[in-house]
Amino acid sequence: MRSLSVVCGLALVVAACSEPQSKPVVEQAPAAPVELAATVIEVPEFVVSTAAPDIAKGLEVFGLKGCTACHKVGGGRLVGPDLKGVTARRDDKWIKKMILRPDVMIKQDDVAKKLFVEHLTEMPNQNVDPQSELPFLLAYLKSVE
Ligand code: HEC
Repeated sequence: MRSLSVVCGLALVVAACSEPQSKPVVEQAPAAPVELAATVIEVPEFVVSTAAPDIAKGLEVFGLKGCTACHKVGGGRLVGPDLKGVTARRDDKWIKKMILRPDVMIKQDDVAKKLFVEHLTEMPNQNVDPQSELPFLLAYLKSVE
């Protein structure tokens, strides 16, 4: 009995030694660059203005920043979605994030990812200034809701 258990013990050692030291690691390419997927988008908090001069300035910024190249406001889809009513279908914080960092949003936000699948163009980061431009864009978009 004793000698049998020694043999078994040896067999176990041999079996353990013949196991590969480490299994090959199959690396899966991440769906999105990790640094973008993890980026926290800071958005300024403000009450959206309904004052006519702010709305007019928003319309001006909308043109200056090139938004009109891809978006209509009423009249249907262009390269991107029609922005009429966007303030009704999404919350302000989401819209602010999308305007400030569309590049990050289409990597980490499910709604933005879905929009990208529908439009097949990445909205580029237009370098909208969070203080001097973003509040006016929101005022304009709200005014055409
Ligand atoms: C080169 C084309 C392009 C430009 C320029 C552009 N966008 Fe976009 N935008 C898109 C596309 C395409 C989407 C859909 C998401 C995606 O595919 O990236 C989008 C999505 C959006 C959305 C979300 C719409 C929804 O239905 O939820 C908002 C808001 C928006 N853009 C605002 C702007 C504003 C404001 C500007 C100007 C500062 C701008 N965009 C400039 C192409 C553009």
